[in-house]
Amino acid sequence: MALHRLASITIGVPNVEDTCVYYSEFGLIRDGETFSTRDGGEQLRIVDSPYRRLFEFCVGADDTDDLERVTERLNRLGVSVTHEAACVSAVDIHSGARVVVRVLPRSAPRPVSTASPSDSHIVEQQNDRAVAVLREESIHPRKLGHVVLGTPNAEASRRFFVDGVGLKVSDEVRGAAIFLRCSTDHHNLLLQTSAVPFLHHTAWQVDDVDEVGRGATCMLKGHPERHVWGLGRHFIGSNFFWYLRDPAGNFSEYYSDMDDITDGEIWTPGSWEPTLRALYAWGPDIPPSMLEPEDLAHLMAFHPN
Ligand SMILES: [Fe+2]
Repeated sequence: MALHRLASITIGVPNVEDTCVYYSEFGLIRDGETFSTRDGGEQLRIVDSPYRRLFEFCVGADDTDDLERVTERLNRLGVSVTHEAACVSAVDIHSGARVVVRVLPRSAPRPVSTASPSDSHIVEQQNDRAVAVLREESIHPRKLGHVVLGTPNAEASRRFFVDGVGLKVSDEVRGAAIFLRCSTDHHNLLLQTSAVPFLHHTAWQVDDVDEVGRGATCMLKGHPERHVWGLGRHFIGSNFFWYLRDPAGNFSEYYSDMDDITDGEIWTPGSWEPTLRALYAWGPDIPPSMLEPEDLAHLMAFHPN
């Protein structure tokens, strides 16, 4: 029938244990070097690598017919496909990511809060405190939402992921970024033009903007160096965000309230100029590290071409 979700990722880092401790504190549920979310099951594996990178991006599909269609489309692009039980895989040589499409059951996430913060303010302030300010439990993300990858050849990576794997285009920033989805989330993969292939960030859905703020604030206690950018709200995708830095240099984002595209016939993809407006509706000034990795020289040593 179709691709239906971003199932899991594998990232490589040179400091596995430090990075595992970080994601445990971030609220993922640790089992060795594998991490689970509340609704998505096992969604992150951390393995050893001489430099930080995305190894694998696993997409859930409904049935083996989907795997056949992915194989045919990738073969038409001249990409070789590996077949295993209930999955096919191929490598985008430009971003360096191995994509696995696996037959998996659809997830049925619990509904997120539908009331806007202003709604809840109005309702809950009548003779009582807002529920949000009384929360004390620690943050545990619901699911892995998206991955942002730098690629030196965004057009070729776009052909691989869209024409080959079958992701849909949700929006585009001309010459800079393309937002792709394999579920109803506005984006599950964002391809960003960059000098080297690299993992920009992973994003983890929490219930609402209060959890974005509480989660990030908790991560920053005693670790101000983890702060990257937030609190703010993106324009493309509409989500609230707060970005933090893991010990390997990858950014991890708490987010909520992303646009949901349940009917691709109704959604109209936008093509935006590469301006700050396209990046965010409001928030602190964007730090340079969001636009170019601080460890670019280090990463280039592993990608001399
Ligand atoms: Fe993001």
